Amino acid sequence: MKRGRFITFEGVEGSGKSTHIRALARRLETLGHHVLCVREPGGTRTGEAIRRILQHDETGEPIAPRTELLLFAACRAQLVEQVIRPALRRGTWVLCDRFADSTVAYQGYGRGLPLKMVEAVNRCARDGCRPDLTILMDVEVGRGRNRLARRNRRAGGSRDRIEREAAAFHERVRQGYLRLAHHEPRRIRIVSSSGPVRMVEEAVWSTVRDVLKPESR
Ligand code: TMP
Repeated sequence: MKRGRFITFEGVEGSGKSTHIRALARRLETLGHHVLCVREPGGTRTGEAIRRILQHDETGEPIAPRTELLLFAACRAQLVEQVIRPALRRGTWVLCDRFADSTVAYQGYGRGLPLKMVEAVNRCARDGCRPDLTILMDVEVGRGRNRLARRNRRAGGSRDRIEREAAAFHERVRQGYLRLAHHEPRRIRIVSSSGPVRMVEEAVWSTVRDVLKPESR
């Protein structure tokens, strides 16, 4: 059986990742592929428990940047081991909302932890599991934050611990992502998510078609 394909979606808050993951999953399923959508942090029971600590201040004490780095990595190690690698072996296409690039962008560029340290921890967590394609949904920080605020108002939610960080933090994250894409242009494709949803959806689809040829698999 052919190994499945592993696609990750990255971007700052409010960049539309989850909407476009759902749309891509529908298109791939129409072609007859088995698709699994997962998210980070989370996707396993251990990962969801860690997500609550990371996002909702469950412990009530400040989380040190290195602790944060290791907790995100722990989620990832569990997800790779329990979910992603077995699914790829079964031939399933795995669409993941955030993966190792988030750690470089948020803990490396955002928090300012040394990039070499972040990369070493990422290597341990990924354990050789690499995305075939990463879609970087790029949007201006202000626009993304407005979208997020609208979504929270509609759903009655509130901003989590990282979403509450200052705009300057999120700007560093965005610039970090763009730098990553510059260094790895074959794997990381930038899709602007500023336009209308249908247009962005088409841009994501044409990128996936060009790079992974889902029609011929
Ligand atoms: P979201 O996927 O719902 O946007 O929430 C995940 C949050 O966690 C988001 O603020 C980005 C952050 N994050 C990191 O800081 N580092 C990571 O490695 C990952 C996966 C997420």
